[in-house]
Amino acid sequence: MSTIPVYDVIVLGSGAAGLTTALLLADTCKVAVLSKCDLSEGSTLYAQGGIAAVLDATDSTEYHINDTLVAGAGLCDVNSVRFVVENAAQAIKRLIGYGVEFTRDDQATGGPVYHLTREGGHSRRRIIHAADATGREVETTLEERVRENPNITVYEYHLAVDVLREKTAEGRQGRCFGAYALDRRSGKVNLFRAKAVVLATGGASKVYLYSSNPDSCTGDGIAMAWRAGCRVANLEFMQFHPTCLYHPTAKSFLISEAVRGEGGRLLLPNGERFMPRFDERAELAPRDVVARAIDHEMKRLGIDYVLLDISHQPAEFILSHFPTIHAKCLELGIDITKQPMPVVPAAHYTCGGVMTDHLGRTDVPGLYAVGEVAFTGLHGANRMASNSLLECLVYGASAASHILEQLTTLPEPPQAPQWDESWVTNSDEEVVVSHNWEELRRFMWDYVGIVRTTKRLERAQHRIELLLSEIDDYYGSFHVSNDLLELRNLALVAKLIVRSALQRRESRGLHYTLDFPHTDPIAAPQNTILVPKKFRLAPQP
Ligand code: FAD
Ligand code: SIN
Repeated sequence: MSTIPVYDVIVLGSGAAGLTTALLLADTCKVAVLSKCDLSEGSTLYAQGGIAAVLDATDSTEYHINDTLVAGAGLCDVNSVRFVVENAAQAIKRLIGYGVEFTRDDQATGGPVYHLTREGGHSRRRIIHAADATGREVETTLEERVRENPNITVYEYHLAVDVLREKTAEGRQGRCFGAYALDRRSGKVNLFRAKAVVLATGGASKVYLYSSNPDSCTGDGIAMAWRAGCRVANLEFMQFHPTCLYHPTAKSFLISEAVRGEGGRLLLPNGERFMPRFDERAELAPRDVVARAIDHEMKRLGIDYVLLDISHQPAEFILSHFPTIHAKCLELGIDITKQPMPVVPAAHYTCGGVMTDHLGRTDVPGLYAVGEVAFTGLHGANRMASNSLLECLVYGASAASHILEQLTTLPEPPQAPQWDESWVTNSDEEVVVSHNWEELRRFMWDYVGIVRTTKRLERAQHRIELLLSEIDDYYGSFHVSNDLLELRNLALVAKLIVRSALQRRESRGLHYTLDFPHTDPIAAPQNTILVPKKFRLAPQP
């Protein structure tokens, strides 16, 4: 028998999306929050630049909407964009109410109290931030509020394996009512049951060899939702951040776009500023444009990195706006008040994901998805900087309020069997997992990166099929482990990314292929929607 109590709602993931949802549910609900690492670990903790919101009288929601649509290259859902932008100020107010301390503008005379910075694609200063460590301030504050809430039970080091659906009287797949989760410390898989389940598991950028993301970003939620019968969309649009620090020991360290927003210039090793050759917005062009320009220059000149220079700004300005970046670079022997930083693009953000509506509902009744795991239509073919944390906050709130409205009418979760491992044994070949993990991430980088071709995508597709069959074999024969479960998810998401990329026979936003280098001039471009077999067999109302 399970020792885990039944909850009203289970939230899988504890970043900005998961913790926002949990806190808003917990006034009247019993909530379990599962996190596969420490509660605070995830992309949110490392977010630097800030959160986009219209907070200045010289800005307007129409400007924010328009900038988002332009960056999204024709694929944003305008209703989603409007919904998020119009709810931004309220989301920021809620964070301040929780105790988040944003950087104040000391120079303000009758203007906004908070300092607003600028990033690529934004026509106005509208990024509220906590110096260059906004994510840490947001995440740790949310964590404090969650830990003191008696209605929220936290399960750290619990990695959700799969969500569960009940069988209807007709033998079809019904509501989602829980999940199996591996307790990474004991190695035991536990059964969790609830009236509703929220996926808030973040993105999948770890599918690439070089990424700005922490190790937790292995696309688990996308893979679980697909296996449960949810459609996914626009997974070809994987965003590469133009500027991650290039250094042998600086694993995944991002140099915020706000550095360019505050005047940072991209230079070649000979000192030439190259962005104006590519786009009139120069360093502040949307990310896809800047990342491709850097990739182009690196390949043209055979160089390993380009340079990002902010040293022309006064040292006090750099120290007060970018204390984290300054300290990290100094630790590595680079004084950014005096010299440029070596930078390269790296995989950063998953624009596609599990299809949801504006209440966070997926195709499976009882299963919600919020944050980077979800596809809401906000980002289109290219996410604009600092719109992502905002999406977590706005959709976290709308999913919570919809669940609360429904809760009294939702059925109690059915009984379910405990995880059965009676037929599996201990693995005698762990090396298979580490080898396949490395291989997958390397060929995704080489074949499914910033610039693609059909031939390279097909090559990747072929290799993924081989890996998936090996992983399935392994999964069916041995006790599950953290690495095996993450690899299984990453390989499935890789397959979905490649399938989506092969379906798009044009270049648009983040998807650039030499075989179709132009953007289709049609007025109403389509999303790439993939439909799992389970959905086709048993569509839900
Ligand atoms: P995350 O914060 O990644 O949280 C996911 C959670 O799910 C984690 O708790 C993880 O442990 C858990 N999890 C995952 N899989 C499982 C599983 N199987 N079982 C249980 N738990 C699981 N966006 C902005 O808007 N502004 C910025 O300035 C900004 N800067 C960024 C800087 C960096 C370095 C990075 C990496 C991203 C940045 N982004 C920024 C993007 C933004 O941080 C993310 O999109 C956002 O934080 C995602 O939040 P989330 O809650 O969806 O996921
Ligand atoms: C950054 O600070 O450059 C990251 C901003 C983002 O990803 O939105």
